[in-house]
Amino acid sequence: MYIVMVSAELAPVAKVGGLGDVVFGLSRELEVRGHSVEIILPKYDCMWYDEIWGLHKIWEELSVPWYGGAVSCSVWFGFVHGRKCFFIEPHSQDNFFNRGSFYGFHDDSMRFTFFSKAAMEFLLQSNKRPDIIHCHDWQTGLVPVLLFEIYNRLGMENQRVVYTIHNFKHQGVTGESVLWASGLCRPEYYLHHDRLLDNFNQGALNMMKGGVVYSNHVTTVSPHHAWEARYTDQGHGLSQTLATHHYKFTGVLNGLDYDVWNPEIDRFIPNHYDVWQIEEKYGNKECLRERMWLRKEFKPLIGYVGRLDAQKGVHLIQHAMFYCLEHGAQFVLLGAGGEDGINDHFYHLKHYLNENQDCHLEIGFNEQLAHQIYAGCDMMIVPSLFEPCGLTQMIAMRYGSVPVVRAVGGLVDTVFDRDNSDKPPEERNGYVFHDADFLGLESALSRAIGLWKDYPKEFRRLMTNGMANDLSWAQSGEHYIGIYESTRQKW
Ligand code: ADP
Ligand code: GLC
Repeated sequence: MYIVMVSAELAPVAKVGGLGDVVFGLSRELEVRGHSVEIILPKYDCMWYDEIWGLHKIWEELSVPWYGGAVSCSVWFGFVHGRKCFFIEPHSQDNFFNRGSFYGFHDDSMRFTFFSKAAMEFLLQSNKRPDIIHCHDWQTGLVPVLLFEIYNRLGMENQRVVYTIHNFKHQGVTGESVLWASGLCRPEYYLHHDRLLDNFNQGALNMMKGGVVYSNHVTTVSPHHAWEARYTDQGHGLSQTLATHHYKFTGVLNGLDYDVWNPEIDRFIPNHYDVWQIEEKYGNKECLRERMWLRKEFKPLIGYVGRLDAQKGVHLIQHAMFYCLEHGAQFVLLGAGGEDGINDHFYHLKHYLNENQDCHLEIGFNEQLAHQIYAGCDMMIVPSLFEPCGLTQMIAMRYGSVPVVRAVGGLVDTVFDRDNSDKPPEERNGYVFHDADFLGLESALSRAIGLWKDYPKEFRRLMTNGMANDLSWAQSGEHYIGIYESTRQKW
């Protein structure tokens, strides 16, 4: 099959969170299985250009219809760790992708509407006719709308769309100007309950809803979250739409790219190890302590890596930090926030704990340090309020760090409590709590710290159970291929 991914992120060149990892890892898995994959991305100024090989311009003037006129774009081609990528660079005063960061601008919905339109125009004009267009999250929700309302009449009648929702919280709720800009026009037609009208804001258009309504198949990133999105408030207003389209909606658990996340060969960590030589992991703990100015004492090292966003349970992250310090553990955090308030709060905490030899906070995005934390910690916390899949707990397990997580979304599908689980002992791999309160978190953390201190052999068993678990893309890649194949048959 010939598959084109349309995405706002791709690891490692343009990565804010797990979306980038997933688009890279899934694409690689599909190629390993003999399929042809190409990825279309915006050409951001803030990409990690060192990681793109052979970047060159392949199209000088791709004319993209926009409002009544057109915007001229250059299209660039390059390999990102072997993946074939096309980067769209518009030349207009809007300067859509030269803003120094990926998201967070007042015109984000217009920026990604333009990207979706340009991606479709690029496919059309370059005569690319993929079997499947796989697009991701709200940023590309208009791709299937554009395909089935405009481009299928221009020679793209055989293309099919799979749409993956990584995060229901961000839906691209916006005004009708994106319709005029992209050539869809007809607000009276699209602002209808059965199409793109937001389910709660009268007169507002919802790009993610467009993706759900128009795509041939819709997935989210874990089976448990698929259930939550349909039957709880975690659909963030789209449950009803998902119910209407239930026949084409499934949950597929994300995988991990085992070339990128592999303690045996990881280029960012000082000591390589595997499940048979797990003691080598402790060299990483020592290096991490040195790097983070922590004292070397007989204490477990507990970490958090992730966006500092309300989704991640920031009050619980903070509480975990103080709880660890009070209960004979060390704590490290690496995080960057989208919201100023949360970022500032963590800067204050960093300042407050500056002299503490058992704690270090690093505010910012740092891929290398993230790998070192996964490899150096004994445990990692993921106390999310909601978590469609979550990669951090899976990466932690891959690196032999025991996850302590809240029972939501993909965390339910991947972490099984040591003491309370219906899984057999060899599949239990972490600690799980249910309520998003201090008591719940403390109960799980105290059990984890207690086991580390008093029953090291038992603790090691949890580590090896996690490491032995297959979290690669193998199974999920196959699942997606099955979805693509059945989607191709749909008319
Ligand atoms: P989300 O997509 O909601 O951010 P995931 O757990 O799916 O959460 O994926 C997060 C990904 O981003 C992981 O690869 C994690 O290591 C990475 N990551 C998050 N924050 C940072 C950071 N500050 N520095 C480096 N990597 C980060
Ligand atoms: C999202 C979710 C996260 C998921 C990731 C990749 O942003 O918050 O849970 O793992 O996308 O699918």
